[in-house]
Amino acid sequence: MNHNSALLVFLLLIINGVSLATSYDGPLYDFTAYIECKEQPEDPLYNGGILKHEAPENLISIADSSTGFYSPAFVLHNLTQGTIYCFSVWVKIQGAHSALIQASLKTEDATYSCIGTVLAKHGCWSFLKGGFVLDSPAKLSFLLFQNSDDRDIDIAIDSASLQPFTDQEWRFNQQYIINTERKRAVTIHVAEGNGVRLQGASIAIEQVSKDFPVWIRNFKNNSWKFTLSEMVRGAI
Ligand SMILES: *[C@@H]1O[C@H](CO)[C@@H](O)[C@H](O)[C@H]1NC(C)=O
Ligand SMILES: *[C@@H]1O[C@H](CO)[C@@H](O)[C@H](O)[C@H]1NC(C)=O
Repeated sequence: MNHNSALLVFLLLIINGVSLATSYDGPLYDFTAYIECKEQPEDPLYNGGILKHEAPENLISIADSSTGFYSPAFVLHNLTQGTIYCFSVWVKIQGAHSALIQASLKTEDATYSCIGTVLAKHGCWSFLKGGFVLDSPAKLSFLLFQNSDDRDIDIAIDSASLQPFTDQEWRFNQQYIINTERKRAVTIHVAEGNGVRLQGASIAIEQVSKDFPVWIRNFKNNSWKFTLSEMVRGAI
């Protein structure tokens, strides 16, 4: 192999590596959330996902048949164990000023009783978002939307969406989010009240949330320091 072809192979390897990194064509997690109650529901996330062509059924409450209320529900087939299912739906109620609407999942052998909630208001659409992971596969299951306090309330749902993520897809998303959203370099300038920059000030950083670890780089000796103490870290 002469020099030129060696270089070519090397370049091909690099290009191949790049395309591998960008060849992910699975779903990207949708962070959209709405807290306001809207006149009209928005479009479903993930274009509806596996609920794209599904309409909700009106099932007599199977979670608690004593009440005999009807609840909107989706009938789902062949859910798999370990898959991360993310769902969202717009909810509107009648018969109460407001009500806590709870999503639950009932399979042949298990009930996941609270996989998402929203405080819905009368006369406008509220956004409910949640998710679940099954401990065992389920041929037939029901995704139910019920009033949590047993009052007979009319629940309408629209723009429903259910998007599965495999373990691998979920991990790709976590990595992707860490790199695009969380991992940011921050330069801290310390100044006096009048705006004059202070040289060589020592600062303390207090971590108030354990969800976002903070690494600090000391540019003098290029060392990295993790601000969460190892003891706290061990307890998480
Ligand atoms: C569910 O799985 C069964 C058996 O694997 C298959 O026969 C059936 O068609 C599947 N149902 C749906 C709705 O995909
Ligand atoms: C770098 O400097 C910091 C503060 O001066 C010190 O605490 C740390 O041990 C040093 N790290 C290394 C690798 O020398």
